[in-house]
Amino acid sequence: MQGACILAIETSCDETAVAIFNEGRLVASEVASQMAIHSEFGGVVPEVASRNHLSALHPTLERAFSSAGLSLNDVDAFAATNGPGLATSLMLGMSMAKGLAVALKRPFIAVNHMEGHLLSPFMSDPEEPCDSIGLVVSGGHTLLVRVFEIGRYHLLGKTVDDAAGEAFDKVGKLLGLAYPGGPRVAALAEQGDARRFSLPRSMLHSGDYQFSFSGLKTAVRYLLPKHDPVPVADICASFQEAVVDVLVEKTMRAVRLSKVTALALSGGVSCNARLRERFKQACDASGVRLFLAPPALCTDNAAMIAYVAFLRLRKGEAGDLAADVHPNFNAAAWLAEVPN
Ligand code: KG4
Ligand code: ZN
Repeated sequence: MQGACILAIETSCDETAVAIFNEGRLVASEVASQMAIHSEFGGVVPEVASRNHLSALHPTLERAFSSAGLSLNDVDAFAATNGPGLATSLMLGMSMAKGLAVALKRPFIAVNHMEGHLLSPFMSDPEEPCDSIGLVVSGGHTLLVRVFEIGRYHLLGKTVDDAAGEAFDKVGKLLGLAYPGGPRVAALAEQGDARRFSLPRSMLHSGDYQFSFSGLKTAVRYLLPKHDPVPVADICASFQEAVVDVLVEKTMRAVRLSKVTALALSGGVSCNARLRERFKQACDASGVRLFLAPPALCTDNAAMIAYVAFLRLRKGEAGDLAADVHPNFNAAAWLAEVPN
């Protein structure tokens, strides 16, 4: 399966995405975003998401084939995200990929969305994902993971309340910015003074790898009535710096203590320019190789799903047409034994 052509579908949340991986490289990655639709509601509405996947899936698939210059008969295996995510949205992508696999008598691989994010920074590297630390910072999750090899991960820590992206989005909402707030808060932060407000760095010295961002969001809420006009850019910059400080400090500690020499950043928040800059400085200072996905592959996409399916097929996996959806993140499946 080294030169296999894999078509992957991702519909876990509000992006309808189709990608094709052919001969070990990405040849198409199409994303139909529903962001403008959900923006009206200030967040993702599950039923609206499912209905939009239903109408967007086929045109997105056609666009992927036309940009790759390939057709359905060229596909050797089909893959789809089976969780975590919105159950009814996941089912649509899974059903379409399974249906195609059955019709064409090809294998079907179910891929975990978080594993897709986690390994995505290695996609353009000819080598396999290596022994490393992975930080996944998305809208729904904040995971710090020790990666041993494909499929063998140890979850070091996660958020105890809001995910990093969720905190960005909630602060954006408090400031009256459109959904999702993350990129807007980041853009405003560029013009602000990050030292103007001293905001909490929760759990910075907790001695473990857990994160907490809801206190930080609350601190921003208390700040607002004290100012008129609200110094939006300074608040964004001070908030962003607090998030980045905690993520960098705790992640670099995990890198040091696990004695790995590689770090991979992924998930929507890893688009953040300040986060990338601070991690680059920290990794340069300690001789650690930093793996980053291009911004278009940090937010939800099907390329990362196709890539994981490619790695697993290459390892000899047969596929599973009976695979179910798993809307919740199952931390227990991410607890590989850590060697002494
Ligand atoms: O990985 P992703 O596309 O979706 C999930 O699986 O959740 O991540 C989306 C999250 C949103 O919370 C969005 O606001 C955040 O990533 N995000 C950012 C930036 N770009 C996207 N957060 C901070 N700075 C950014 N530049
Ligand atoms: Zn995601």
